[in-house]
Amino acid sequence: MFPKNTWYVACTPDEIDVKPLGRTICNERIAFYRVAANEVAAVEDFCPHRGAPLSLGYVSEGKLVCGYHGLEMGCNGKTVAMPGQRVGGFPAIKSYPVQERYGFIWVWPGDAALADPALIPHMAWYDNPEWAYGGGLYHVKADYRLMVDNLMDLTHETYVHSTSIGQKEIDETPCKTVVEGDTVITSRYMENIMAPPFWKMALRANHLADDVPVDRWQICRFTPPSHVMIEVGVAHAGHGGYNAPKEHKVYSVVVDFITPETDTSMHYFWGMARQFNPQDKALTAQIREGQGKIFAEDLEMLERQQANLLTWPQRGLLKLNIDAGGVQSRRVIDRVIAAEREGAAPAAQTP
Ligand code: FES
Ligand SMILES: [Fe+2]
Repeated sequence: MFPKNTWYVACTPDEIDVKPLGRTICNERIAFYRVAANEVAAVEDFCPHRGAPLSLGYVSEGKLVCGYHGLEMGCNGKTVAMPGQRVGGFPAIKSYPVQERYGFIWVWPGDAALADPALIPHMAWYDNPEWAYGGGLYHVKADYRLMVDNLMDLTHETYVHSTSIGQKEIDETPCKTVVEGDTVITSRYMENIMAPPFWKMALRANHLADDVPVDRWQICRFTPPSHVMIEVGVAHAGHGGYNAPKEHKVYSVVVDFITPETDTSMHYFWGMARQFNPQDKALTAQIREGQGKIFAEDLEMLERQQANLLTWPQRGLLKLNIDAGGVQSRRVIDRVIAAEREGAAPAAQTP
């Protein structure tokens, strides 16, 4: 259950710079490849000759050459040539709209006629000296909506991430969820607490004391089809919290692009964009490593949760106040899917 007439992050450029990449997105098996320095392409990962995966081939002069018997595929899905054969009658395969933007390759797995690059959300931090970004990719054997639930309810940090960003005050502070159109926002503001280890590290990295009380915030924003951006940070207590001047706080945006692979698996592109010490590359690497470890802690939980749900599909689940963010986000996803079925025009995405 996922919208298909929309842009998803398919991969990062480095994944296709050397050779083609075979990746399933929304149940579509796709071969991604670089046609030229500024051009990327995506076609069905299926050679019309004998069904070999085209992603096992290579790119030559902008054509994707099948690694089995040398068929040359064009980026429109039509066979261009094959040694010793006339290819005019070869059946075409599907090709997919793709765009390279903001450090990602985006794909439109649905109706190609509706794909408009202008609908891709703008990323303010890309190629911007005031920001730094670092991130990674995890493959997770779980419905992508379980990750949306996870990110829209950060009470789990107290338990799953107890040694890095978790602290009991998260549990003790109620969160608030509001829905604005297709955007769901769940926020929590904690005051006068001690920073957990990850944020102590970030305070030190920004030359701020880490042994004094802070105000901490988490503002999770879901937008369709499955993006979750989370404003996070701490400020020395008494300076205005979220609104404190720059010199009293550390803050960043947790960036989550969640791309469905199948009904029960996903590609999870995670990262962090920050505005403190953006030129410090060692800090970017340190944060990326820390974040990678923290997010790896969620994987086993989600995969085992998915296994339970598949074993006992008929069991009802509770919806508590802490679940409001995920529940509302799923409602938005259901609405988008219903609108797509009724033939509504796809909407622009917002980060
Ligand atoms: S299967 Fe691709 S050329 Fe034969
Ligand atoms: Fe988590």
